[in-house]
Amino acid sequence: MDNYKITEDALSRLNNCDDPRLKEVMTSVITHLHGVVKEVEPTDEEWLQAINFLTQVGHWCDDKRQEFILLSDTLGVTMLVDKVTDPKPPGTTESTVLGPFHVHGAPNLPFGANISKGQTGEPTLVMGRVLSQNKLPIAGATVDVWQASAQGLYDVQEPERFPDMNLRAVFHTDKNGCFGFCTEKPAPYPVPTDGPVGTMLKALGRHAWRPAHLHFMISAEQHISLTTHLFVKGDPYLESDAVQAVKDSLIVDFSLSHNNAEADQFGLPTPYYKVQEDFVLATAN
Ligand code: BEZ
Ligand code: FE
Repeated sequence: MDNYKITEDALSRLNNCDDPRLKEVMTSVITHLHGVVKEVEPTDEEWLQAINFLTQVGHWCDDKRQEFILLSDTLGVTMLVDKVTDPKPPGTTESTVLGPFHVHGAPNLPFGANISKGQTGEPTLVMGRVLSQNKLPIAGATVDVWQASAQGLYDVQEPERFPDMNLRAVFHTDKNGCFGFCTEKPAPYPVPTDGPVGTMLKALGRHAWRPAHLHFMISAEQHISLTTHLFVKGDPYLESDAVQAVKDSLIVDFSLSHNNAEADQFGLPTPYYKVQEDFVLATAN
């Protein structure tokens, strides 16, 4: 059988599939996988290497580590899925990757709380509003935030030092749609490189760094939930994020403020960094 017949034959075996979407997806998967093999013509050894790599990726997955998501992220697949699924009505805030470090059950904290338990980084005030598509404030929206420390590590990466929810919190917007919190300025950090994805990045001559960012997951009744970041303007990795998740509209100024009255109000030293940003949610149909 020539290799075109093999592909035809594999596709014909979908004829009895009565789920049209599954059939469509598998037709595409088989066609593209066969295309890769025809184009690359792998040796037996290379094919085995590919199987072993995927096996390793699976072995690294558990309830705390998702190496397949990291693989998808570092191959740009996650951002491509974001592109094709995000409806993006004009004027709404753009979404980006969730990443592997979100944790459910972060503490509900009041307006102005400091989410940093170590405060080893530069003090930062983050203020924002959650708005609807027509730019009206949304009261009672849930704003789930998490970030890496100034040392570029999430709390879950150093559980001995931070056993309970450092640099994570859930806020609820007030009647003006506002939320605000104190934190430390995030730093760039590498995605985890101790597993097979790290080996792949090294073999490909790629760096593993992500530009400094804050994570947000924002939800409100009758609106589509938003998972996004705010990136620090000027970060050296904005152009080469290892997971290609930077969107220009999400790059913001962390400007240095000397406002003593505001610093006193939030219990911050001066100077401190300040970020102010509105998040616009799309209406759910
Ligand atoms: C993160 O931003 O937390 C992240 C996203 C994708 C891969 C690794 C980390
Ligand atoms: Fe992150």
